[in-house]
Amino acid sequence: MRIFSSRPLGTLRFSVIFVAVGLGLLAQAGVSGLWVYRVPTGDGNFRDTFFELTQSGESVGGTFYSGTRQIPLTEGTFKDGKLRFVVNLGNENMARPVVYEGTLANGRIEMSALSPSGNRPPTTGVAEHARREAMLPPARLPLPELRQVPDNGLVRTPPMGWNSWNLFADKVDDRTVREIADAMVSSGMREAGYVYVNIDDTWEAPHRDDRGNIASNVKFPNMKALADYVHSKGLKIGIYSSPGPKTCAGYEGSYGHETQDAQTFAAWGIDYLKYDWCSASQIYKDEDMQGVYQKMGDALLKTGRPIVYSLCQYGRADVWEWGAKVGGNCWRTTGDISDHWQSVDNIGFHQVEIAPYATSGHFNDPDMLEIGNGGMNREEYRTHMSLWSLLAAPLLAGNDLRKMTPETKSILMNREVIAIDQDPAVNPVKQVSQDGKAVVLARLLKDNSWAVGLFNRGDRPASVVLKWEALGFGGKPLQVRDLWRRQPVETSGSGYSAKVPAHGVVLLRVTAL
Ligand code: GLA
Repeated sequence: MRIFSSRPLGTLRFSVIFVAVGLGLLAQAGVSGLWVYRVPTGDGNFRDTFFELTQSGESVGGTFYSGTRQIPLTEGTFKDGKLRFVVNLGNENMARPVVYEGTLANGRIEMSALSPSGNRPPTTGVAEHARREAMLPPARLPLPELRQVPDNGLVRTPPMGWNSWNLFADKVDDRTVREIADAMVSSGMREAGYVYVNIDDTWEAPHRDDRGNIASNVKFPNMKALADYVHSKGLKIGIYSSPGPKTCAGYEGSYGHETQDAQTFAAWGIDYLKYDWCSASQIYKDEDMQGVYQKMGDALLKTGRPIVYSLCQYGRADVWEWGAKVGGNCWRTTGDISDHWQSVDNIGFHQVEIAPYATSGHFNDPDMLEIGNGGMNREEYRTHMSLWSLLAAPLLAGNDLRKMTPETKSILMNREVIAIDQDPAVNPVKQVSQDGKAVVLARLLKDNSWAVGLFNRGDRPASVVLKWEALGFGGKPLQVRDLWRRQPVETSGSGYSAKVPAHGVVLLRVTAL
C-alpha cells in the first residue's frame, strides 16, 4: 500500500524542507520586539503592560512602559527559551524591583512577575507580540471653553459614606456591595450620617456594547438592580470612572464617551461619581485638567439627576482653585492614602494651608478613611478621624462594615466628632500652635464654639498645651468637653495642658459661657 500515493514526491520533499527550516527558525527565534504582557483579572479584563526587548546573544536589554514612564530593564537574559529581566518600578525614594520570568513557546511567552520584597502578589499571564499602535494613546479630543459650571446644590456638608477601594480593591462585587449596604444600616452607620455606598475601580466590562455604552463586568451583573437595592435601604450609590481611556486599574474609562457615560450612570440611578485622572495623563497635560473635568461636570448636570461630582487628580494643578468651577463637590488634594501612620500623618498635617478653599458644597478631599483596616492603633485612628473632621473632609469609610469591632464603631460613629466634620459653617481649620511634634489645630463652629485638636505627632507620649487666648477666650468662663472621652473637662488658668499618647489626639469642643 502506498500511503502518499496522491502526493507527488517533489512537493513532499519541499514541505519537509519548509517545515524543518521553520522549526529551526522557531528554535532560534529570539525575543527582540515589542510585547504586551496580559494578566487576566478574573472578570474578563486584562491588565496590559508593554515592553520592548533587544536581544544580543544571550543578553537582553530594552524598555518597560509603565503609564507615561519608560524604564530601562536590567539583568536581561534569554537562554534555552527562558527569558528573565528586572524592572525597577519604584522611584528615587524607594526601589521596587520586579523580576519578570517567562518561557518562549510558539511565539508567546508564558510569564510571571514577582516583587522580591514581597509587597505585591506575583502575577502570571502571557506576553504576545504587540503592534506599536496598541501602545499609543488615542488622539487628543478638543476641550470645551472654560466656564463656570452651575453649582448642583448637593452635599452642603462633606459627603459621608463608604468606598470599596481601600480594603477590597479589585475584589469588590455586587454581593459585597449589597452586604455593605445592609451593614451600613444594621451597624448604625446610616443613622450616624454615612449614606453613600461607593463602588470604586474594577466594575467595568472590557468592552462597550455596540452602541458605545459602558457596561459592568461579571462581578456586577445588573448595576440598575444594585442601585435599586441600595436605594431601598435609604442609602445612595456611587460609581467610579476616568476621563482617560483607561482607569488606574486599567479598566474602561470615559474618554470620548463623557456625555454617554453620564447618561448611563444617571439611568442606573447613580448618585455620586468619582472621576479619576489616571490615563488621561497620556493625552492631556496638567494645565488641561480644568477643561477635562468641566466636560464631565457639564455632562453630569445635563443628565438632570443629582450626582455628587468627586474629582480625583491627586491635588495637581492647584485643583482647590478651580474644583468648584467645574462643578466639583470635592477634589482629592493628595496621592493615595494607605493604612499606615506615616500616610495619615503626612497627608493630614499638610492640608491646613488650603483649608480656606473649602466652602459649603465644595470640599478638599484628603482621601478616604482607613479606620478599622488594622494597620494603625486606636490613638492613630482617632487622630485620623479627628483630623479629617477638623479639615471638613469627606468621611468615606474604607473598611469592612460587616465586621467592625466596638473600637472601630466608636471611632467612626462618634456623633460629636462627626458634628465637627458636618458643621454647616465650613470655616477653615487653622493651626493655633506648633511646638516640635505638638500641634494644635482649631476650627470655629457655627455656634461660636471651637473644635480644637491637641495632636502629638511624636513617637512618645507628650504634653500638648493650648492657650485660651489663642482662641480669643482669654479670661472668659468656658465649657470644655473632651470628645473622645465623652466627658466635660475641668479647666482653670490661662490654658489647658493635655498628656497625649504617641500619634494621639485630645479633641475638645470649647464654648464660652
Ligand atoms: C487611584 C485613586 C484611588 C483608587 C484607584 C483605583 O489610585 O487615587 O483612590 O480609586 O485609583 O484604581
